[in-house]
Amino acid sequence: MGKEGGLAGIVAGQTSVATVGKEGVGLTYRGFNIEDLAENASFEEVAYLLIYGEPPTASQLADYRKALREMRGLPPGLCTILENLPKTAHPMDVLRTGCSALGTMEPEGEGRDGVAVANRLLACFGSMLLYWYHFAHHGRRIEVETDDESVGAHFLRLLHQRDPDEMAARMMDVSLILYAEHEFNASTFTARTIVSTLSDFYSGITGAIGALRGPLHGGANEAAMELIQRFKTPDEAEAGIMEMLARKEKIMGFGHRVYRICDPRSEVIQQWARKYAEATGDKVIYPVSERIHAVMKREKKMFPNLDFYSASAYHFAGIPTELFTPIFVISRTTGWAAHILEQRGDNRLIRPTADYVGHEPRAWVRVGGQA
Ligand code: COA
Repeated sequence: MGKEGGLAGIVAGQTSVATVGKEGVGLTYRGFNIEDLAENASFEEVAYLLIYGEPPTASQLADYRKALREMRGLPPGLCTILENLPKTAHPMDVLRTGCSALGTMEPEGEGRDGVAVANRLLACFGSMLLYWYHFAHHGRRIEVETDDESVGAHFLRLLHQRDPDEMAARMMDVSLILYAEHEFNASTFTARTIVSTLSDFYSGITGAIGALRGPLHGGANEAAMELIQRFKTPDEAEAGIMEMLARKEKIMGFGHRVYRICDPRSEVIQQWARKYAEATGDKVIYPVSERIHAVMKREKKMFPNLDFYSASAYHFAGIPTELFTPIFVISRTTGWAAHILEQRGDNRLIRPTADYVGHEPRAWVRVGGQA
């Protein structure tokens, strides 16, 4: 089907959660511009906005933060499962498994609605991931319940096992805001499709994690980091990218299905990457990233998407590359939740049709002539 495939340009439903790329540019969550949210909101406010539909009041926010803090613990059975997952597992697979397992221990249903499950997953995905990470890599069972105010600070404390520094905590907060929601992207559409069968919330999120994992979607931030780290100087990067383009290879972290002019999220995270590069005295990663950006603009008129500069910002904050896409999961749980709730609010089974391009009708011939 070539460039006509992939449901490009198809309106697959209605949403009041977000707009993406109106007139080729721009992103809004429930009517608020992404630049405004990144500058003025906290991730917990954005999470509340997405899940409940309106921004929280000061007291609702305080209650919400407290509720999230109190849901960071993991059931012992889940810890046992996490301890049995191999060190070689991709952390996205750990989250996918952890999400599915929690769904058997704390199922949606009596006394636990979709909103409760969404908040529980948002609160404990960082715990699951880093409990497994420390156990698998260092044989240590870490304490996952902390008093940190924010989801981002909780993540950083568990990862580094020390007080998060202010710059890292705010960068995480901004990054979580930028990754929170993006209309009918592949993982969100997956979640909506799953719950349109009247399946449960955990199934929707588990499937969405699987869709997000791939390098054409969320996995691009890890792939972008691996690309950037191949080069030691901007000149080496320029030569390398030119060779890749000549071989018609894709440069991870560039291009977008919907945005045509720029990805508004990229400009915000690029500022953080630049600030971090200055603060850490980096002379390689950021200059290499900027050169790749310049070459892509010159050669292909392409712009970086959110994943490209997120890679270096995370790297400077001391986050291992294989945890980049899992951070996306923690954030996007809020957008997925908003869409699952919206889908359920006016549900119809999502079931498109296909053009058949296979064999003409033909008769089955029994092997050996026996029934
Ligand atoms: N590097 C180099 N060329 C790219 C490219 C990239 N990252 N992204 C798209 N192109 C080129 C394609 O090769 C194609 O060229 P052609 O017409 O000469 O064959 C053209 O642009 C259209 O690409 P296509 O893959 O059909 O666009 P799409 O809308 O299906 O894909 C993405 C959108 C995001 C999947 C695609 O841009 C991509 O793979 N980007 C890299 C992965 C990434 O960063 N994903 C995160 C998205 S937020």
